[in-house]
Amino acid sequence: MNRREFFGWVSVSAVASSLPVAIASCLPNSNNSANAETPTTNTSVTIAQSSGFQSVGTAAALDKDGQILNKKSPVGPVLVIKNPNDPNGLIAVNPTCTHNNCTVKWKKDEKLFDCPCHDSEFAPDGKVLKGPAKKPLATYQAKIEGNSVVVKAG
Ligand code: FES
Repeated sequence: MNRREFFGWVSVSAVASSLPVAIASCLPNSNNSANAETPTTNTSVTIAQSSGFQSVGTAAALDKDGQILNKKSPVGPVLVIKNPNDPNGLIAVNPTCTHNNCTVKWKKDEKLFDCPCHDSEFAPDGKVLKGPAKKPLATYQAKIEGNSVVVKAG
């Protein structure tokens, strides 16, 4: 190998060895691109939670069954029905009877909540219609957001 061949070989080697670094600097940072794609939070859930509303079931289930009973929802036990006096409105109550903690049932035809244990009855707004219960059922605000039925205490 003469001197000209030697320097030609060294310069090719220098370019070849620095090429991966040059290419890497042109590519997007894999860590940054991964972070940019990380947020997978459902936007409707975030909005519902930020406004204090919590999902307790699906609108499809409410349409199919006429009610949603969720004893372990984020706001506690909840029974959601369609408002019998407003086809676009929802009613949500805590279905725990205020007499002795049985779970009330919605009687659509009679438009009331009935307790199977001692026959207390409650109006759609939770007020006592018939004892022995003396206190009304707790109520929640309720609405449909996207495909979810959401409620908010208070
Ligand atoms: S527990 Fe409901 S009426 Fe007694």
